[in-house]
Amino acid sequence: MPCKLLFVCLGNICRSPSAENIMNHLVEQAGLSDSIVCDSAGTSSYHIGSSPDRRMAAAAKSRGIILKGQARQFQQSDFEEFDLILAMDQENYRNILFLDSQGKYQDRVKLICDFASHHQEREVPDPYYGGTEGFNKVIDLLLDACEGLLENLISTHELTGK
Ligand code: 4NP
Repeated sequence: MPCKLLFVCLGNICRSPSAENIMNHLVEQAGLSDSIVCDSAGTSSYHIGSSPDRRMAAAAKSRGIILKGQARQFQQSDFEEFDLILAMDQENYRNILFLDSQGKYQDRVKLICDFASHHQEREVPDPYYGGTEGFNKVIDLLLDACEGLLENLISTHELTGK
């Protein structure tokens, strides 16, 4: 059974699709595609069905990452479906936990920045209403955090690539 990861932000058009595709890229490089599976979702319904934001896709592409996918909303069944749910910021984190009224799944929900080792930030800032540098910052932070997350998964699940 692969380890299933769900990255969550507000709209599922900027930060979480970047995290999903960066993580897939790192997982493929490590030869672990059979062991780790990634998806992403938004806590809001604002952009359901939309492709990733063009500005976000341009920032990702400049670092060799192609953003694929269409936005969907986080749903209750995701708690059962995924082993680890990675929120981009505190607001997403709170909104996810709010849907877990019995606190049954709270151990599965984490902040993605908890896995970053080269950045001090505790959240991935929402880039939507800002300029280009905000989108580049998202990619830098997520590369760091996803590398840390991959190392963590490799050691806790004793994964070996092929
Ligand atoms: P994301 O960015 O949560 O990283 O996908 C946003 C996308 C859309 C909006 C806010 C943030 N919005 O307000 O529509």
